[in-house]
Amino acid sequence: LTVVVLAGGISHERDVSLRSGRRVADALTAAGHRVVLRDPDASLLPYLAEHRPDAVFPALHGSSGEDGALLELLAALGVPTVGSTAEAARLAWSKPAASSIVQAAGLPVPESIVLSHESFRELGAASVLEVVRQALPGELVVKPASGGSAQGVTVVIDAEALPRAMVEAFTYADVAIVEQRVVGTELAVAIVDTGEGPRALPPVEIVPTAGVYSFDARYNAGETTFFVPARLSPEVLGEVEAVAIRAHLELGLRDVSRVDLIVDASGTPWFLEANVLPGLTETSLLPLAAEAAGLETPQLYSELVRAAIA
Ligand code: DAL
Ligand code: MG
Repeated sequence: LTVVVLAGGISHERDVSLRSGRRVADALTAAGHRVVLRDPDASLLPYLAEHRPDAVFPALHGSSGEDGALLELLAALGVPTVGSTAEAARLAWSKPAASSIVQAAGLPVPESIVLSHESFRELGAASVLEVVRQALPGELVVKPASGGSAQGVTVVIDAEALPRAMVEAFTYADVAIVEQRVVGTELAVAIVDTGEGPRALPPVEIVPTAGVYSFDARYNAGETTFFVPARLSPEVLGEVEAVAIRAHLELGLRDVSRVDLIVDASGTPWFLEANVLPGLTETSLLPLAAEAAGLETPQLYSELVRAAIA
């Protein structure tokens, strides 16, 4: 098959996407496909319209890939594309929207407050601090309402540090989400569906050396220790997988995703977010989970491509 792998794009995660795209292209080439690696620039759509590849594999992270905008154009063009629809991507890409949907489905989601940069400016740091303290006592996690790879994310232990953390989040998005921090085991569950319905790959337990799974801890080998499967009881692991699959389905995601969760001391898995196109770099979690499940990426990515065409 001829597969166009998209990598790069205009987003804060451009470099990560270039790394994911390179890995996907290598894997699909090893599987015997003819692969064209392209940046999704202005020449992409005319190129696809002219060359009509069998499928597109968008190894794109961040806005321009995961927010659904480009996926909508690809759908309009009618090129089979691996991954979620534009509509599902748009919802999952927005952390507040995704949290509401998953919470409405009855799954545990940390309490949160959503605040725009504009409201933050109008209210002022002191009032925001007061409001958040009342609503969400204890430790917090502040994130841009959309984004990936932990960019702009800050763990706030002492509430005084909240305004600064929000300003940091606003450098990545116009809206920030302030979440109650759940302390426990950090997990990522890759979901793949090659035609028989979504299944969970073994949950990956994430133990960053520096304590926080930051951008650096994600993309520098050796800065994080992983346990696959996670060091949890079979019952809790089963529950984690079930919650991840439910979240994937509730959000309407397709083919592939990665659901990030935290399991607290009582064994409850809390939904944090779903990644529309999870990282596929050499230090990313989906390839690690696939390996633990005995799946070769050339085979797995090939099957995703075939499922997209079918
Ligand atoms: N957004 C990055 C790529 C991830 O979550 O894997
Ligand atoms: Mg993410």
